[in-house]
Amino acid sequence: MKKLLLPLSILVITLFFAGMPYLPTGVDSLNQIKEGQNLPYPLLPAIPYNYSNQRLPRHISAQAFFNYKAPNNTLTDMGATLGRVLFYDTRLSVNHTVSCASCHIPQFGFSDTAKVSRGFDGALGHRQSMGLTNASAQPMQKFFWSASEDVLQNQIQAAITSSIEMGLTLDTLVARMQSTSFYSNLFDNAFGSPEITAEKASAAIGQFVRSMTSKNSKFDIAMVLDPKEHVDSMFFIISIDSLDHFTKKENAGMRLFISKGCHACHLSSNFVQFFPSNNGLDIDNVNDKGLGGETGNLYEEGLFKATSLRNVELTAPYMHDGRFNTLEEVIEHYNSGVKANPNLASELKGENGNPIRMNLTTYQKEALVAFLKTLTDTIFTSDPRWQTPFSVYSIKPVRETPMDKILNSRTLSVDPAFPEGSVKLFPNPFSDHLNIQFPNEDREEVTAKLFDMKGQLIFQTQTHGLSFRIERAGILPGNYVLQLRVGESVSSKLVQAR
Ligand code: HEC
Ligand code: HEC
Repeated sequence: MKKLLLPLSILVITLFFAGMPYLPTGVDSLNQIKEGQNLPYPLLPAIPYNYSNQRLPRHISAQAFFNYKAPNNTLTDMGATLGRVLFYDTRLSVNHTVSCASCHIPQFGFSDTAKVSRGFDGALGHRQSMGLTNASAQPMQKFFWSASEDVLQNQIQAAITSSIEMGLTLDTLVARMQSTSFYSNLFDNAFGSPEITAEKASAAIGQFVRSMTSKNSKFDIAMVLDPKEHVDSMFFIISIDSLDHFTKKENAGMRLFISKGCHACHLSSNFVQFFPSNNGLDIDNVNDKGLGGETGNLYEEGLFKATSLRNVELTAPYMHDGRFNTLEEVIEHYNSGVKANPNLASELKGENGNPIRMNLTTYQKEALVAFLKTLTDTIFTSDPRWQTPFSVYSIKPVRETPMDKILNSRTLSVDPAFPEGSVKLFPNPFSDHLNIQFPNEDREEVTAKLFDMKGQLIFQTQTHGLSFRIERAGILPGNYVLQLRVGESVSSKLVQAR
C-alpha cells in the first residue's frame, strides 16, 4: 500500500494544479489512471530502447558463439520491451507481491541478498538466487545451479508456476494480462498479433534476460584500452600477463586466477562454466544433490554450475546455498577449505588425490578479491533498459557509456603499422577471391586471420610476400573481420563475402 501512496499523491497534485481542461481524455489515459490506482502501469519509451543491436567489445563479441542458442526466439527491441514489463510486473505472482525482480534485483547483479530466496508467501526456496549479468553466456546451454534446465523459456514458466516462487497458473497469468489495457498492444508489437499466450510471455522474458549485457566493468575497459590483442583464444585470458589499466594488485590477482586454476572452471571473457562441477563445499551430497538429484546419476551428485562471475561483488551471498557472505570467505574456501567430496573436481585435487591446499598469502588472497572486483559494472546494473518501467515518472534516456565512447571512436582497431589505405583489399565485397596487397616495402612476416562476426577463426595464413589472396570457396556469404598482424601491430578490416 505504501508504495502506491506516492504515485497517487503525485497524480492528485498534478491533476489539481493542471486543472480540469488538462484531464487526460483518451480511453487509454483513463484506463491508465484506473489501473494505476489498483495495479502498476508501465511507462515505456515511444521509440523502444536498443536491446538487439548492442555494440560490444571484441573480447565479448568474439565469445558470442558460447551464448545460449534460443530456439525460435530472435531477440528484438519490442520483444525485450515486453519482457522488461513482464519481468517487473507483480501480476505474475498469485498475490501480486512478487515479480522476477524480487529475487533478481538490478543493484545486486540481478540476484538477491537472501541466503535462499523467498517466494510470494514468504516461503523459503532451497537455493540462492542466481545473478543474471551476461546471462546469455551459457556454454552448457543449461540453466539453474544444477545445470538441469535446457530451455530458458521452460525455466521461466517454471519460476512463474513454482509453488514457492510465484505460484501462478499460466491460465490465470493470461487472464490477468488480458484484463489490462496495455499488454495486448505490447504483444502485438513484439509478435505481430495481439493474442496473449504464456508461451509468448516466456519468450519475451527470455529475450529480455538474454539482452542483459555488461561491458563497462574495469576489466572490460582495461581490455579494450590494452594495446595488445586478447581475443583470439577461447581460453583467452591465459595469454595475458598484465593489463596496463589494472593496479599491481589486480594484475597479481588476474595471474593467480589463471595460475591457481580458477580460470579452468570460470572460463572465457564472461567467466562462465563449461561443465558443472563439484568445488568441494561438502564432504557428501545429502543436502542438495545438484545435477545428480535431477539425473539420478551417482557421479553427478554434488555437481553445480556457477553463473558468470561478472558482478560477483554484488551478488553475495555465494554458492548455491548462499553459505558464504563475502568474497574473502569464498577465497578462503578455495585456499584451505576444499572438502574431499567423492565427486570433487580434479582441478581441486592435489597429486595425492586429496583436496588441494593453495597456501595463499594474505596479499595473494586480497589480490584475487581485487581482480574479482574488476568485474563489477554498475553502469549495467543502473542502465534504464533493464530497470523497472513501473512506478517511474519519467523515461530515462540510455546514455553513451565509457565503452561506447571508446568503441565509437574506433573504426575497427588501432593499426600504427598500417596507415589508412596502406593495405589494399579488393574486390571487397568479394565473390571469387579477395586480394590483399601491401605497400612496396620490406616487412616482417604478416599473419592474416579471417574471423566471422562471432569471432570464430575461419581462415589463417602467414606470408612474407607483397600480396596474397583468400579463396572464396568454402566461405559462407556474410561479413567477416580480416585481421592482419605484423609483430605487435594489428589491423582489422571488415570484408564481405558474396
Ligand atoms: C522467489 C525468488 C525467485 C523468483 C520470483 C524468480 N527467480 Fe529466477 N532464480 C531464483 C533461484 C533460487 C534460482 C536458482 C534455481 C535453482 O538452481 O534451483 C533462479 C534461477 C534463474 C535463472 C537461471 C540462471 C542461470 O544462469 O542458470 C534465470 C534465467 C532466472 N532465474 C530468471 C527468472 C525470471 C525470468 C523470473 C520471473 C519469471 C524469475 N527468475 C523469478 C529465484 C527466483
Ligand atoms: C573445479 C572447478 C572450479 C574451480 C577450479 C574453481 N571454481 Fe569457483 N565455482 C565452481 C562451482 C561449481 C561453483 C558453484 C558451486 C556451488 O554453488 O555449489 C563455484 C562458485 C564460485 C563463486 C561463487 C559464485 C556465486 O555466484 O555464488 C566464486 C566467487 C568462485 N567460484 C570463484 C573462484 C575462484 C576465485 C577460484 C580459484 C581460486 C575458483 N572459483 C575455482 C567451480 C570451480
